[in-house]
Amino acid sequence: MPDSIEKISIQLKVNGKPCSRTVEPRKLLVELIREDLDLTGTHVGCDTTYCGACTVLMNGTAVKSCTIFAVQADGADIITVEGMEKNGQLHPIQKAFGDCYGLQCGYCTPGLMLSALQLLSQNKQPSDKEMQKAIAGNTCRCTGYQNILKAIQTAAQNMKGA
Ligand code: FES
Ligand code: FES
Repeated sequence: MPDSIEKISIQLKVNGKPCSRTVEPRKLLVELIREDLDLTGTHVGCDTTYCGACTVLMNGTAVKSCTIFAVQADGADIITVEGMEKNGQLHPIQKAFGDCYGLQCGYCTPGLMLSALQLLSQNKQPSDKEMQKAIAGNTCRCTGYQNILKAIQTAAQNMKGA
């Protein structure tokens, strides 16, 4: 093992803001987001690509940030749950999760909302099956999913024409 690990400079955009950091090659994207950028809305549940609590958007695609090295995000556009609201207004997806009781403990919620954001960015009127598929990588231990699906459906309706 070398005494010191060579660090690598990366530049990315996080929630619309440019960001430069020098990181060890082994640093995970979720560690960069939570520890270096203090965006703790992105959660860590399993650290093994199972639970989806760490989901963020990377260039518009929902990814599990515990499974991506920070250096792989060099040049990327990252959106975390903190980047969903605009001008102090909750995103329609965030509002619908609250209105439809789509959360209980909330641990899974940021990841679910970002998976829903990817879906509704590409498909304004998803079917039940499409919604289920979109959140298949996000595990919720509390809600039973019915209200989560209702929240995504409600958000889709509220975002029509937006
Ligand atoms: S913490 Fe990344 S998938 Fe569970
Ligand atoms: S609301 Fe508790 S894990 Fe989903």
